[in-house]
Amino acid sequence: MKLLRRNVLAMVTAFSMALTAPQLFAQTFKMALGDAAGGTQWELGKTFAEKLSDKTDGKAKVDLFPNGQLGTEQDTVNNAAIGLLDFSVLAINNVTPFSPTVGLLTMPYVIQSAEEARLLTQGDIGKELVENTIRDAGVRIIGWAYSGFRVLTNSKRPVKTPEDLKGLVIRVPRNEIMIASYQALGINPTPMAWSETFTGLQQGVVDGQDNPYITISAMKFNEVQKYVTNIRYIFSMEPLIISESIFQEQSPEMQKAILEAGQEATVHSFDFLQNTEDRIKKELAAKGMEISEPADNEKAWIESVTTVVWPKFYSSIGGKEKLDNALKQLGR
Ligand code: MLT
Repeated sequence: MKLLRRNVLAMVTAFSMALTAPQLFAQTFKMALGDAAGGTQWELGKTFAEKLSDKTDGKAKVDLFPNGQLGTEQDTVNNAAIGLLDFSVLAINNVTPFSPTVGLLTMPYVIQSAEEARLLTQGDIGKELVENTIRDAGVRIIGWAYSGFRVLTNSKRPVKTPEDLKGLVIRVPRNEIMIASYQALGINPTPMAWSETFTGLQQGVVDGQDNPYITISAMKFNEVQKYVTNIRYIFSMEPLIISESIFQEQSPEMQKAILEAGQEATVHSFDFLQNTEDRIKKELAAKGMEISEPADNEKAWIESVTTVVWPKFYSSIGGKEKLDNALKQLGR
């Protein structure tokens, strides 16, 4: 009788443990990266994959597909939105067309340091932008790569003033704020997908582009570009997104692991930038890139751009007060 009671008790315990045990099933996710391996996108994605594997005892595996293998950065937002792709790491400027309020983060000359980029993305403003992006684009931002200021490169000549830009064909992403920024500086830039940019520069379809030092190095742009100008008009942030429909299909335990891994990978990304950017800049100079500062401490650049571009995009980012609030949070 005693034995029977013990067996029944053991069965009940096993059954209730099964009910409360984390529901983690083995699965393999796909993650698209617009950049080549070795840059800030790769570092964020790789760290996320490692952390997620640790948190799920190896049950969740993430395969990384760099170099735009799974489509242009903007395509990956569409594909994730309809549940055809799990994850993507891409530049925030390529999310803006699907979720206009994140344009706040690409408003020129707003963010002036990596610390400011972290402050905006990790505080209330960042939380609101994540919610808006789920609503507008069907994707959830679960982490951030902090990639550094976008500097201008070109193959023709040193550029120090906006006048020096005249006659240069500069590639920009398909992003209205960035197009308007160059127009305010007096030229009509050429919108081109990121995955086509190296070839465009190599074949001389375009003369220049802007992206952070670590990205320039990962993409080997130094092989087709010589001159760099530290224009610092946009601090590049590259979110890690997950398809919202795929996120919602996960068990609460997997969702928790995904969110935690994203947060931890973000912390790592910030440190990676601090520890890597200077070295990469020196390496690019040693490989022959000529780096200059904008003349006049950037005054001419900043005034031409902010006076025209900011008012033009107030309504798309949700009103002037959104920018005012961001500036206030940054102490300006
Ligand atoms: C772009 O210029 O389209 C992107 O910022 C590139 C990137 O994702 O690194």
